[in-house]
Amino acid sequence: MPVPRHVAVIMDGNGRWAGKRGLPRTDGHAAAERAIHAAVEFGGEVGIEFLTLYAFSTENWSRPRLEVAFLMRLLSSFISRNIDELDRKGVRLRVTGRFGDLPKKQRDDLTAALERTSGNTGLTLVLALSYGGRAEIRDAAVRLSDRVARGELSPGDITEETIASMLYNPDIPDPDLIIRTSGEQRLSNFLLWQSAYSELYFTPVLWPDFDREHFQAALDDYSRRGRRYGGLTS
Ligand code: IPE
Ligand code: IPE
Ligand code: MG
Repeated sequence: MPVPRHVAVIMDGNGRWAGKRGLPRTDGHAAAERAIHAAVEFGGEVGIEFLTLYAFSTENWSRPRLEVAFLMRLLSSFISRNIDELDRKGVRLRVTGRFGDLPKKQRDDLTAALERTSGNTGLTLVLALSYGGRAEIRDAAVRLSDRVARGELSPGDITEETIASMLYNPDIPDPDLIIRTSGEQRLSNFLLWQSAYSELYFTPVLWPDFDREHFQAALDDYSRRGRRYGGLTS
């Protein structure tokens, strides 16, 4: 099977990585940057078109205020430290999630980075920020009902495609492969609609330790899978 077009990663285990070293959880988040860098570089090299990284969920707002604030600052510093190189490599940055939930500074930094890289044609790096699969489906339902209320759409005409077209990034294909690090085997509200037929890959490796060899192992595993989509072929 060819390289997956779209790989989505649940980058989990930063806190445990730090805990094992007697460090504060925030050091684990800081250590995640190297793994992100490696994943983007490797993804581009092997020809992945879309790499979605689950960086902050709608539920993560319930973490201690200082941890949330640290993660937001880290987002801005990640952008400022990496944007030149990402741009040079032709990476196109995009976001998914409730963008409006983010603090103004992070919205501004992201907006500038999105605009700067919007014409790039290499790997599309999608950052899932304040992202929740249920929130995304709920937001789509609101948009759909609004169109019905305006008389632009009748309920009987609503298809799966109509719903998909109301999601945050309807032009991005569903993920072929979803990787979750840290040994947890759940989706934690990630891409609920889009993951209907995704291949799932779980590894005990903690996200800050996830390197290109681990990524290659996930791709090798994926290449041995038979995707049937409910049918009988392949
Ligand atoms: C993932 O690491 C990063 C975010 C959710 C922001 P965690 O912070 O969840 O790390 P663990 O799961 O506590 O080890
Ligand atoms: C999922 O990790 C969210 C991200 C990686 C951003 P969590 O650590 O928040 O998930 P749970 O709480 O273990 O399900
Ligand atoms: Mg976690």
